[in-house]
Amino acid sequence: MKIIKKIGISGADVYPIVEGGKGVGVSNGLTAGAFAAADAVGTFSGTYPNLTCEELDGPSVRRSEKTRQNRSKQLADEGIRESVAQARIAHEVSGGRGRIHMNILWGLAKAEIMVDGILSGTKGMIHGITCGAGMPYKLAELAEKYKTYFYPIVSSMRAFNILWTRSYNRFSHLLGGVVYEDPWLAGGHNGLSNKENPLVPEDPYPRVAKLRAFMNGVGLKETPVVMAGGVWNLKEYEHWIDNPEIGPVAFQLGTRPLLTKESPISDAWKQKLRTLKKEDIFLNKFSPTSFYSSAINNAFLSELYDRSTRQIEYKDAPDAHFCEPLTLSSTRKTVYVEPDDWARSEAWREEGFSVSIKTPDSTVLFLTKEKARHIQKDQSECSGCLAGCRFSGWLDSEEHRYVTGLRPDPRSYCILKTLQRVIQGINVEHELMFSGSIGYRFAGDPFYANGHIPSISELVRRLLCGG
Ligand SMILES: Cc1cc2nc3c(=O)[nH]c(=O)nc-3n(C[C@H](O)[C@H](O)[C@H](O)COP(=O)(O)O)c2cc1C
Ligand code: SF4
Repeated sequence: MKIIKKIGISGADVYPIVEGGKGVGVSNGLTAGAFAAADAVGTFSGTYPNLTCEELDGPSVRRSEKTRQNRSKQLADEGIRESVAQARIAHEVSGGRGRIHMNILWGLAKAEIMVDGILSGTKGMIHGITCGAGMPYKLAELAEKYKTYFYPIVSSMRAFNILWTRSYNRFSHLLGGVVYEDPWLAGGHNGLSNKENPLVPEDPYPRVAKLRAFMNGVGLKETPVVMAGGVWNLKEYEHWIDNPEIGPVAFQLGTRPLLTKESPISDAWKQKLRTLKKEDIFLNKFSPTSFYSSAINNAFLSELYDRSTRQIEYKDAPDAHFCEPLTLSSTRKTVYVEPDDWARSEAWREEGFSVSIKTPDSTVLFLTKEKARHIQKDQSECSGCLAGCRFSGWLDSEEHRYVTGLRPDPRSYCILKTLQRVIQGINVEHELMFSGSIGYRFAGDPFYANGHIPSISELVRRLLCGG
């Protein structure tokens, strides 16, 4: 194994190992501080850390506002306060070593306001901001305002080209690196484009080499690429290191740090990681953000799959094919469906799926009364966490009266609630557990034998030795 040398990241020489930022609260001040203390890069999540949802008793202030727009504002204010607290923890734990980054989802409601608020309250503590899920053009200006490095997360050269051309070329002195997040392999939300097939993964090497060639062409020869997604150890990436086709490179790990002493996820989630097989983790498209995401196939995901199988196409007026009338239980309106689908819907009704609701894709979905109540409750309690939400129809825009204009989608879910529950260890099998595709490797790696859970400094040492 080659000796892993330190490289320049966010103004200091550190090991090219980057903690992947994980909301909500999965990477926090303690984990980020520990990575930094090991002379690597720690990343806490600025995506609503340490806040709980309404019905949970937890450490946060309850969101008491009556309207979604006021709740959204309250959530952002709390998010800023909690993120500042996490930055302070990270700064203290690091002991001044390494680098501290903050990750935030650009697709959040008020992402710009939040980054501004957090950076203004944490002078000198956050060395870099990593941002994905959307096109964060404005990130560069915010970085300039606070003299902080910025790191866009992209999944193709094309996406970076657009960001560079429209905005980043004016702020290249603060562009700390470009995170290439493999859209087939990485945990959490993924940036698969419409042209890419979720079932046909592409080799990251040529995609990163293409990104590097573009970066070299615009004068970013010395700017690191951060490879994220599917990285278990550095031994497997030895041919990337000191390779002119890839240039300066660092490696971001999101899934592997989940099983460390400092990781705040529950014991149940940690135990689950040890049992995973390759086929237990895959990409799905249920997220209210409308992005693909990679998660563990548990009861939460199975229910969503199952839910989506009970839908049929409809038309508002009858025609030669859509000739069977169907009265919707939700509105008592009549729509028209094909005879075979009508027979299926009758069978579902008999099984107890008696509530029929329209989806935004001209289909009718069949739910039990209990599930329909649950969905309605989550939609009505929406706190406006996202810039736009497919599940509740919330849009963070006064001009559009805070609605997307699309029908709320009952095939999706409230991501804020489920992530807040899973981080508190409540019934984790029934909540969303993000994981990268390599999550199954815990089970076979002798490093984790006999129930061993390493500290973050032990993990970094192990990575530096290739393992
Ligand atoms: C539980 C979990 C939560 C994540 N949350 C976020 C997030 O909030 N924002 C983000 O940009 N990436 C998020 N990610 C992606 C990681 O930052 C990282 O890029 C990715 O996990 C790397 O791939 P790997 O899982 O194969 O190591 C998350 C990943 C996991 C496993
Ligand atoms: S319904 Fe959507 S926007 Fe509202 S809190 Fe949940 S995930 Fe966020």
